[in-house]
Amino acid sequence: MGLFVTFEGIEGSGKTTQIRKAADYLKERGVPCVVTGEPGGTPVGGELRKILLDKTALALSGRTELLLFAADRAQHVEDVIAPAMGGGEVVLCDRFSDATVAYQGYGRGQDVGFIQALCAFASRSLVPDMTFLFDISADAGLSRVMDRARRAGNVPREDRFERERLNFHEIIRDGYLALAREEPDRFRVIDASRDIGTVHHDVCIHLKGLIER
Ligand code: TMP
Repeated sequence: MGLFVTFEGIEGSGKTTQIRKAADYLKERGVPCVVTGEPGGTPVGGELRKILLDKTALALSGRTELLLFAADRAQHVEDVIAPAMGGGEVVLCDRFSDATVAYQGYGRGQDVGFIQALCAFASRSLVPDMTFLFDISADAGLSRVMDRARRAGNVPREDRFERERLNFHEIIRDGYLALAREEPDRFRVIDASRDIGTVHHDVCIHLKGLIER
């Protein structure tokens, strides 16, 4: 049976860069791994992602949003994560159930207990072996998102979540930190305000410990 490692954090925390570097680290050591993420890790999920992140989809209700993230996860676990783990691979996943608790629970104010039960149903009770939380202030994270867009020559384009107020992202960050306090054995909280190489170094120490365990 493989391992399941998730990467979490607010917008601009650098988790997507770090997941790629983590995959390179594992591959260089001959550890078979798969990089995936939510929403959108399957063809069905790709369609759901369009609906979920479309900034014109103003009419999406809170309950609809929650159920679509859960639907995306159910398909993803079934089609991608469980088969890869069954084949003995290390699955590195950009966001998972903790994101739903942080965003739809803490962020949107929906019932956290219900969300946890829904996520358990959608994921067939799959819990990550290790979860990296890339922690950064909402201010610094959102500045990175804007800089990235400008460097790409775009007027900063915002999806439905990126255009939320700064305060929304601060609440999400606090929600993630609360989750990490509840499950200190699973979470590794990484100070993501530092440079890419230093953050990667920390990630590697924890990954090494996990694969040697
Ligand atoms: P991404 O930018 O990391 O691909 O994530 C897309 C957005 O979806 C991001 O703003 C976080 C949000 N999201 C939720 O609100 N709930 C979830 O369960 C997941 C997986 C993502």
